[in-house]
Amino acid sequence: MTDDPNPNQKKTPENTHPTETTGHEWDGIREYNNPLPRWWVWCFLITVVWGIGYVIYYPAIPLLHGSTPGTSGWNQYDQLDRSLAAAKALHGPLDEKIAALEPEKILSDPSLRTFAIQGGKAAFANNCAQCHTSSGGGGKGYPNLLDDEWMWGGKIEDIVQTIRHGIRSSGDEDTHSSAMTAFGKEGLLTKDQILDVIQHVRVISGNAEPSDASARGQTLFTQNCAACHGESGQGSHEVGAPPLNNDIWLYGGSEDTLYKTIYGGRGGVMPHWAGRLDDVTIKKLAIYVHSLSGGEKSAPHPAP
Ligand code: HEC
Ligand code: HEC
Repeated sequence: MTDDPNPNQKKTPENTHPTETTGHEWDGIREYNNPLPRWWVWCFLITVVWGIGYVIYYPAIPLLHGSTPGTSGWNQYDQLDRSLAAAKALHGPLDEKIAALEPEKILSDPSLRTFAIQGGKAAFANNCAQCHTSSGGGGKGYPNLLDDEWMWGGKIEDIVQTIRHGIRSSGDEDTHSSAMTAFGKEGLLTKDQILDVIQHVRVISGNAEPSDASARGQTLFTQNCAACHGESGQGSHEVGAPPLNNDIWLYGGSEDTLYKTIYGGRGGVMPHWAGRLDDVTIKKLAIYVHSLSGGEKSAPHPAP
């Protein structure tokens, strides 16, 4: 049973719904002219009132220079100053300790050490990772800072010195400056002599068996290389000569690469950071780098 008086008539808004339509029609679809829901009107009014309050209370309307100030006196510059002051109050005393204490003292205080390492790690990501990679693993020509082999010394003071003044960095008088001689280019060794000395380097680095060539190379090594790399190839921090008596390489230990190194010499450049990074940051970086490698501490490196 149905109440519809005319069940066969086509259903339209006019005959099925008592409300008027707006008179708009799209493809036969018409729009009811219903009042807005109450809850919606209230929400709308509340947001309008809130918006007016906001404009009065906070800086809001952009002007030619700045904006309306608002009655609260709040602004983002003050907020930034406050959060910087809060960070400084938190870190300041620790930074002062780091500036004042000897590296060994910092290392023996676990919370200070952790604080320094975290700061150093952040500064490393910003300033050093592009050359040494974010892990510190380095690449060809860029030393691996994770191992405990050092050209210029691995004690914290040495690392501070390297970071502060760089390596062959122009514009810094105290930079590490010695460089590997270009034995081939400068005509100090012939091609055959270089090939012999390469065999000796490959023997002491554990990559070849001794041979006649390496025996001739050993004599040449003593005459030409030992002054910097040490008689047994142990290296020297004085002149930044890497050890050659192990299989850790800055440029590479293949015969081709060794030929290039000895023929043309090498002189890797690392920028100096004094003036660009403050002393506390440099100290934190040194402590971080030192922690990556296990860190040299005890007796000074043996002289060559
Ligand atoms: C533009 C590239 C570059 C940047 C940036 C750079 N380094 Fe270096 N770094 C080098 C090179 C190249 C060497 C090796 C120089 C050489 O051949 O003696 C080096 C060497 C070092 C050494 C010496 C390693 C040793 O065996 O004695 C340390 C320590 C070091 N870098 C730390 C840092 C730290 C910390 C930063 C960031 C503040 C940094 N470096 C930024 C290129 C860079
Ligand atoms: C004046 C000092 C000096 C003398 C002499 C010298 N070297 Fe070097 N050698 C260096 C320095 C410094 C480096 C590091 C260069 C750099 O960091 O770019 C180096 C680097 C090397 C390397 C690269 C090692 C690696 O890890 O890739 C080899 C190989 C090498 N020297 C072999 C020799 C041989 C062989 C001789 C003798 C024929 C010799 N050097 C003489 C100072 C010297």
